[in-house]
Amino acid sequence: MTANRKILFLPGDGIGPEVMREVHRVIDWLTKHRGLGFEVQEGLVGGAAYDAHGTSLADETLADAMASDAVLLGAVGGPKWDDVPRQLRPEAGLLRLRKEMDLYANLRPATVLDALVDASTLKPEIVRGLDLMIVRELTAGVYFGEPRGIETLPDGVRRGFDTQVYTAPEIERVARVAFELARKRTNKVHSVEKANVMESGVFWREEVSRLHAAEYADVELNHMYADNCAMQLVRWPKQFDVIVTDNLFGDLLSDCAAMLTGSLGMLPSASLGAVDGMGQRRALYEPVHGSAPDIAGRRIANPIATLLSFAMMMRYSFDDAANAELIENAVQKVLAGGLRTADIMQEGTAKVSTDVMGDAILRELDKVAR
Ligand code: IPM
Ligand code: MG
Repeated sequence: MTANRKILFLPGDGIGPEVMREVHRVIDWLTKHRGLGFEVQEGLVGGAAYDAHGTSLADETLADAMASDAVLLGAVGGPKWDDVPRQLRPEAGLLRLRKEMDLYANLRPATVLDALVDASTLKPEIVRGLDLMIVRELTAGVYFGEPRGIETLPDGVRRGFDTQVYTAPEIERVARVAFELARKRTNKVHSVEKANVMESGVFWREEVSRLHAAEYADVELNHMYADNCAMQLVRWPKQFDVIVTDNLFGDLLSDCAAMLTGSLGMLPSASLGAVDGMGQRRALYEPVHGSAPDIAGRRIANPIATLLSFAMMMRYSFDDAANAELIENAVQKVLAGGLRTADIMQEGTAKVSTDVMGDAILRELDKVAR
């Protein structure tokens, strides 16, 4: 068997390492029962890397990420590193990975599984059957725009500033990802900005409209202001299929969309780069939830978002929808059977630890293998 899938594991901080452990077990299962070859390497990112190397992403780790087919990341950050200078902070390591790997398209699905309809804080009829995809631009905008800083003016007044900036190619390439995805779904895109107050928003709208008219006129395109989008997401989220938006609005709206599903502990994400001449693209997969330092090490974290991120890797990096679905279905069966980690506990269900949730998912996989 050849180890043809080269994966870099970056568990990171907090609950990252413990949720990643469950993915190792699924990889072992796929190797044994599905005859797949994986070559898994592990590295440090975030606070863990800072503690070991004094930087939240070592150059060697970045090189390993560049050389792998796909990266799976746990989570970064925690109060332990609150006093570390911003450019060395755990989050800076993640931002550098995204930027250097040029992972401009961040796919954040929000789907409500039937078994979890009641875990949402919204009424069941609002969220039942929800399936939307946020495509967040990830390598430009105010997160990276220059100039930025904190300075003291000649008159002694201090000020802080960032720059929101997008080039036409940066907008076009992420909008293209959204239109392509929409064609495989229900063919509807909402492009979200603040064209009513921001020049960059006017420009975003122009560029998305231009691409739409030129190449994607078959897809329904709606423009929406970001504040309205936030409101519509909690009012009637099923009006959306694919939402495409900039880095900052995407950060906010994806947290909001995530919570429609009841728990951040359920949601995976994929960050994708451009397809090269060989049909390959750089990719990083990570759960949408953070490092949750308050529950780290207690074996109560939900491993599902990370397992589903791995399933996205199978689908998008290894073009293996069959094994992706196998994992997704196993997760759904376990939830339907009434097992829950603490974050998605409901009346009448059984609370289990991280590893017991992992055991149950492996048992479901075993049933398929038989
Ligand atoms: C996210 C996170 C990150 C972001 C942080 C950890 C830098 O909130 O992935 O949504 O703001 O992009
Ligand atoms: Mg965020």
